[in-house]
Amino acid sequence: MRSKISSFIMISSFLSIIIFIFYVFLKSYNHISYFTHPISIFFFIIITMLLCILECVNHLIFKKKLQFLSEKERIKIFEENEGNYFYRFYRFIFYDKINNNKVKRIDHGFDGIIELDNKLPMWWIHLFYLTIIFSAIYFFSYFLLDFSDPYEEYNISYKNQLKEIEIFEKNTPQVTIENAVFKKYLVNDGKIIFEKNCATCHQSDGSGNIGPNLTDNYWINVKEKDLFKNIFSIIWNGSDNNPTMRAFGKTGEIKGNDIEKISSYVYFINQKSKKPLRAKAPQGKKIIKWKEI
Ligand code: HEC
Repeated sequence: MRSKISSFIMISSFLSIIIFIFYVFLKSYNHISYFTHPISIFFFIIITMLLCILECVNHLIFKKKLQFLSEKERIKIFEENEGNYFYRFYRFIFYDKINNNKVKRIDHGFDGIIELDNKLPMWWIHLFYLTIIFSAIYFFSYFLLDFSDPYEEYNISYKNQLKEIEIFEKNTPQVTIENAVFKKYLVNDGKIIFEKNCATCHQSDGSGNIGPNLTDNYWINVKEKDLFKNIFSIIWNGSDNNPTMRAFGKTGEIKGNDIEKISSYVYFINQKSKKPLRAKAPQGKKIIKWKEI
């Protein structure tokens, strides 16, 4: 017969298991805010009351059973229940109540060695049971709910990131031709965007294909006094005389911040890096003196 565990401990441990399962369930459906909803609180109160009733019934049954036991068995149960709860819990964990004095001996026979088959310590066995219970909970929550599903977690954080980017873009004003300036640290980012959007017509090194060579001093379109702004202006407005070079900025195809990056890259390959070995023949006017920026 089981020794009596304190009702207080029983109720609180059952309640915490139920709350934990409830929590995992809500978390996996992203409804964690429902956790403190009045209905949930009501549910917990009902559960607590039910657990109390169950404990009372158990207690009564326990008392009733005691009456039918022999004197010897009763004494044994009283011995098991002596001391306060924590002492009993300590004994329960570290000693096997029934067999703690009996060590089984296994006689090998053939070699004369007698093996002592010590019982595993109770804490070890309980830990083992705990892992089984944990694995069962984890197994079902993993396969039936979204709990700890890596794909679901990825989706959620991906969506959150997109949202953050959207908020960031809304709150940070885009660069316009008025405040765009060449920034060396944007060159690498600009290169990536250039390769995606412009390299088909200009080559990724800017040496020219359908579109003109962007690394020489010859320019068809001269709208601004300084080179960087001129580049920005063409990407924003497109070319007046050839619609093949479309207005990436005006149409919203590329945002101002990205145009600043691309312009930085184009400015960099035109002014600051080595010229490509093979490039398209010059087009437009030669311009040597741009306004310094
Ligand atoms: C579909 C082909 C095409 C694409 C894509 C394209 N361009 Fe062009 N680009 C051209 C053509 C053609 C011209 C020449 C326009 C003209 O004759 O006025 C040009 C001109 C230019 C000029 C001015 C050159 C000059 O000498 O006046 C710049 C700068 C430029 N493009 C940058 C870019 C950038 C940056 C991108 C990517 C965002 C890009 N282009 C994408 C075809 C293209």
